[in-house]
Amino acid sequence: MTQTVRKVVFPVAGLGTRFLPATKAVPKEMLPVVDRPLIQWAVEEAAAAGCNEFIFVSSPHKRAILEHFSPAPAYEEVLEARGKHDEMALLQAGLPENAKITEVFQDKPLGLGHAIWCAREAVGDEPFAVILPDDMVLHGTGCLSQMVEQYEQLGGNLVAIEAVPHDQTQRYGVLDPGAETGTLVAIKGLVEKPAPADAPSNLAIIGRYILDPQVMEDLSAFNKGAGGEIQITDTLANLIGKLPLHGYKFQGQRYDCGNRVGFLAANLAFALSQAGAGGQSGLGENLGPVLRDIMGTYL
Ligand code: UTP
Repeated sequence: MTQTVRKVVFPVAGLGTRFLPATKAVPKEMLPVVDRPLIQWAVEEAAAAGCNEFIFVSSPHKRAILEHFSPAPAYEEVLEARGKHDEMALLQAGLPENAKITEVFQDKPLGLGHAIWCAREAVGDEPFAVILPDDMVLHGTGCLSQMVEQYEQLGGNLVAIEAVPHDQTQRYGVLDPGAETGTLVAIKGLVEKPAPADAPSNLAIIGRYILDPQVMEDLSAFNKGAGGEIQITDTLANLIGKLPLHGYKFQGQRYDCGNRVGFLAANLAFALSQAGAGGQSGLGENLGPVLRDIMGTYL
């Protein structure tokens, strides 16, 4: 069974309230980590995994995101005239040559599940990836590339998972884990944002998914879950028994850039990782566990 994943959905219609006032006029996904905005890191990860259709679920207030991926004739003209070809290449903003871009709007931030549902027409009838740009994973092989390789054998729905501190389960979709085979966990159930006492495990979903298009039908019921939002986790749980559902323990260090300390740590780790590319290999990667320890105190 071969399941090609060509399309990727970026839900970027949230309000980013934890970063106010920085996110009042600048979308959270446009905040830079080192030298490029969060959303460009996500696009590059998807392109490296073989995706060539990039679907942005955005909001009319967040025009800057699509602008970042649009042609910039004013820059092109000047850079061309000055013979600055390296800088010209940067204007491509990480998109592959054959990229197709689609933008759909989510009028109100009704939840991640609703944002994904807004992409239903662009997604059509094929498996698709979802990347939440504020979760960054630092590893030589991108998290989505790792997942695509697994998905080719699995089909159904696949989510990236990691063990989180027990006292943080209320921030995540948490697994009721079944059989574990290497890096894959069969999922028996899911609970969105459980209190630590009610959490079936400490294995949590992070912002990477590969989904079967059948999720759209379940999402169209608009059932509200935790926090009064339409949650993709509830849909994935509803489809257990109809579609395989697996968690994948990815390689690499994750940074939650949706909060301030995680965002700062990502900047440090990714900057050092880029410096590593110049000869000090592994600097950013080695820093990961240390930062994680320090961050834990401040999160
Ligand atoms: P978050 O839960 O981090 O919410 O969403 P947020 O609005 O971005 O940030 P805070 O909590 O107010 O600070 C995770 C991702 O899902 C998208 C967000 O844009 C972000 O990329 N999202 C969330 C949507 O696109 N629509 C929604 O209704 C909710």
